[in-house]
Parts: sequence; C-alpha cells; structure tokens
Amino acid sequence: MTEPRSWLFVPADSERKIAKALDSDADAVIFDLEDSVAPAQKAAAREILKGLPKRSNGPQWWVRVNPLGSEYHKDDLTLIGSAYIHGIVLPKAESGADVIELAHRTGNIPIHAIVTETAASLFGLLSYRDPKSPLAAMSWGAEDLSAALGASSKTDADGDLSFTYRLARSLCLAGAVAAGVQPVDGVFADFKDEDGLRAEAEAARREGFTGKLAIHPAQVPVINFAFTPSPDEVRHAEEIVAAFEAHPDAGVLSVGGKMVDRPHLVQARRVLERAR
Ligand code: COA
Ligand code: MG
Repeated sequence: MTEPRSWLFVPADSERKIAKALDSDADAVIFDLEDSVAPAQKAAAREILKGLPKRSNGPQWWVRVNPLGSEYHKDDLTLIGSAYIHGIVLPKAESGADVIELAHRTGNIPIHAIVTETAASLFGLLSYRDPKSPLAAMSWGAEDLSAALGASSKTDADGDLSFTYRLARSLCLAGAVAAGVQPVDGVFADFKDEDGLRAEAEAARREGFTGKLAIHPAQVPVINFAFTPSPDEVRHAEEIVAAFEAHPDAGVLSVGGKMVDRPHLVQARRVLERAR
C-alpha cells in the first residue's frame, strides 16, 4: 500500500473497539496508548496489543506510544518486536531530533510524528528533513496545542478555527512536504457531523494533504473517498500526461482549452499514482 488515506485511532484498552477498527476499511489503524488510555489502564492496554493475533490483510498496524520523556514511554516500546507493528506514532514531537532519538530506540521502523502539540513544536517544523530518518508521515493536532497555549477556545467568535491552529496546520503541511513524507490532516472531533467532516477532508486534499486522522469508524469511508481521485480527475490527469508524452519537447501545452505546464504534469502524475 502506498500512503494511507485514513488513519483510525482506537484506544488500545478496548478490545471491542480494536476488533471493530481492524474490521473497518481504514488504511491504517493507530492503537493508542497515549491520551485516550487512562494511566491505570496503560499496562493492560499493552498486554492486549501483545496478544493480538497477526492478520495477513486489513489495515496497517501503528501504535501511538506516550511521548519521549514520559514515564510510560519506555514500557510502550517493549511492544516493538512482540506485536506485529508496521510503525510508531510519536505524539508531542518538537523537532526532527525527537524522531532520530526514537529511531535509535526502535531500530528504524517507520515513524508518524504528530508535530504541532506543544508551543515549541511550531518553531521546529523545518527540522524533520533528514534523508536518514525513518519518518514516514507528519500530522497536526489542535487539542493539545490549545491546552499548551492556555487558550480557552480553538475557534474564533464565528466558529472557525483560529489563526494559530490554521498556522499550525499549514506549517505541518509544508514541513511534511519539505521532509518528503506524507502530510496527514488532523482529527475532526465531531464524529456525528458527516457533512462537516467531508467538507474538511476535501479542503485538506485540495491543499495537499494526502490523508486524515479519524477517531470513529463512521469517518473512514468519508475520508477514503475524499482522498481518492475521482474518475474525472483521473481522466484529466491522463490527458495531461498523454499530451506531454505526445510532445516531449514542449514546455507548455493546451489541454481541454486550458494552459498546462510542468507543475500541472507533476500534479497529474501524482493523481495517477494515488489512483493506483
Ligand atoms: N474504533 C473502533 N470502534 C469504535 C471507535 C473507534 N475509534 N469509536 C467507536 N467505536 C465503536 C463503538 O465501540 C460502538 O460499537 P458498539 O456499538 O459495538 O459498542 C460503535 O463504534 C459506535 O460508537 P458510538 O456509540 O457512535 O461512539 P461511542 O460513544 O461509543 O464512542 C468515542 C465515542 C469518541 C469515545 C470513540 O469514538 C473513541 O474512542 N474514539 C477514539 C478516541 C481516540 O483514540 N482518541 C485519541 C486520538 S485523538
Ligand atoms: Mg493528544
């Protein structure tokens, strides 16, 4: 599989939810040991993950460990090797150095870093560029950031996300692209609002994100659809690629009555890549 479109969080202390998550169409499931698991349940959650029977198909398995430096982090890492884990989600990452530190402890399995959860993290978003790093994805979160900043709300008076969080989101996007890893949009917490989720996921895809975090199985099909190129988009991309193949020396061409040049070709190839 290429980059997961949907990344579904599931609290790792709930066997019932884990079973549902693994049966969903999520491209990746994130077993959470951090914020959604109470301190008294962390050990039990690790044991549940260690006992999960390996599956040959279904979503990729990722584990969100507790942050570097937290009292649970070291015990969480004992899971690697004892359960079938595709990758690790690192919350509260502040810079590329955190990813490298984790990689030293985990033997270079893929890492998805959540990169906007502390005040300092907003100043580290260019630091993830490192060809030797096992970083595979970067996502952003507003909940922890607002708590860290002492905000009373994440939204403006009119209900839109405040500038600080939109800034965090854009920096995550650009930081991930600069690092050559997947940019993943954050969670949409109101899991009963399907229209709101669809609008947010479509907006994220237009901007360049290629996947989105989910917190409820009902969000998975909406996210998968939003991040899959439509037949029209695929057709248009094929036309652009075909036009440049027919005129390999052309810098700019007309396709469907519109100007297309090299950036359009790059984008068209990306659409076809994702459609496969
Ligand atoms: N993964 C798998 N199954 C889930 C799920 C998830 N993330 N969220 C809900 N479900 C299951 C429920 O267990 C329920 O199944 P059941 O009827 O067999 O008991 C079914 O889906 C419908 O759930 P619903 O009643 O709509 O929601 P809820 O009130 O049970 O749960 C949340 C709401 C928010 C607590 C739950 O969605 C959840 O735990 N989400 C993940 C939270 C998380 O991991 N956060 C960390 C990242 S921000
Ligand atoms: Mg959190």
